[in-house]
Amino acid sequence: MRALIAEAGGWVPFDVFMHHALYAPNWGYYATPRRLIGLGFGDGSDFVTAPELSPVFAQTLARAVAAWMAHTGVDEIWEFGAGRGVLARDVLKALDALGCGPRQGRVRRYVIVEVSGALRGVQSDTLSEYSSVVEWAEAWPEHLRAVVLGNEVLDAMPVQLLCRSAGQWFERGVSMQGDALVWVDRPTELRPPTPIPGEHDYLTEIHPQAHAWVQDLGRRLTHGVVALFDYGFPEAEYYHPQRSGGTVMCHQGHLSDPHPLEAVGEKDITAHVDFTGIALAAQDAGLAVVGYTSQGSFLLDAGLVDVLPQASAAQQAAALKLIHEHEMGELFKVIVLAPEASAADVPAMGFVRGDRTHTL
Ligand SMILES: C[S@@+](CC[C@H](N)C(=O)[O-])C[C@H]1O[C@@H](n2cnc3c(N)ncnc32)[C@H](O)[C@@H]1O
Repeated sequence: MRALIAEAGGWVPFDVFMHHALYAPNWGYYATPRRLIGLGFGDGSDFVTAPELSPVFAQTLARAVAAWMAHTGVDEIWEFGAGRGVLARDVLKALDALGCGPRQGRVRRYVIVEVSGALRGVQSDTLSEYSSVVEWAEAWPEHLRAVVLGNEVLDAMPVQLLCRSAGQWFERGVSMQGDALVWVDRPTELRPPTPIPGEHDYLTEIHPQAHAWVQDLGRRLTHGVVALFDYGFPEAEYYHPQRSGGTVMCHQGHLSDPHPLEAVGEKDITAHVDFTGIALAAQDAGLAVVGYTSQGSFLLDAGLVDVLPQASAAQQAAALKLIHEHEMGELFKVIVLAPEASAADVPAMGFVRGDRTHTL
């Protein structure tokens, strides 16, 4: 990181810092062979995600995936940022159980796009029983016909930091002072997507990388459906005048902290998702919003209650964390997108009750 900052002339914007802290080969957080995602009961992991918490997440999502595949006629699933491959494995298993998986020839390819080489190896082990349909893509195809899944991928994409100080806007970046990494702000023309009322000091993020990613996806997706799960809010909540400290968070050992310049490469760095920005970027690229709601509402509407009785008591207990408002049920959201021409006909599984698209 010192070399990177020196080469850049002594200052890098936060998104460049975050990109290297997470993804630099050999020393970035996601390059480590250590187990990063897990339940935390003595496994040395740093954070848990919905598919790792309970297979009920994948089993419920698979019902929607089955409906979307049948409706759009696609036979591929693409997953971005597949972590340890648990969602992929459990979705494929659930689709087989529903009679529309790889065993029935209904899923021809399950393609993973993963930036972390270390995680690709783990995914390959997790998915060994589905090796005939699972593959990894280096580059995106020109045209994509698929159901596209992403769980906690958008929050892992580097963000730029903007701060208002004494009424002036600055971009926050990282410099060296002696051996220490320090924050340094530079005047900028950049602004949050919506004006922040008031004159008070304010720190926030903008998400050009996530927007570019969604636009790239939108331009390529000719048939299919995209479902993205993550923590975040619509713009009005994200850029609320009272949210004056931003949303950047680090995760290590199942604790969170707001200090990304410490223990660089040893902890995850994330920012919440502005789902309005995602919806607008998607619209620019020809996608329309099929639905947007909380994870809890989506899972209940997509049939979690029907899936639950087949789960063990322990899995049922864990599954409740997926929908409880004080756990993952409310902060986590899902947005489902589809090519504009077909979006109105996509089965609204997960959104029949509780759709919140109007809040975006
Ligand atoms: C927080 S983890 C979530 C992992 C997994 N989806 C889960 O829920 O357990 C973020 C994942 O996104 C991957 N990632 C980040 N940016 C990506 C991108 N632009 N394309 C594909 N994968 C990406 C990371 O390498 C990592 O696997």
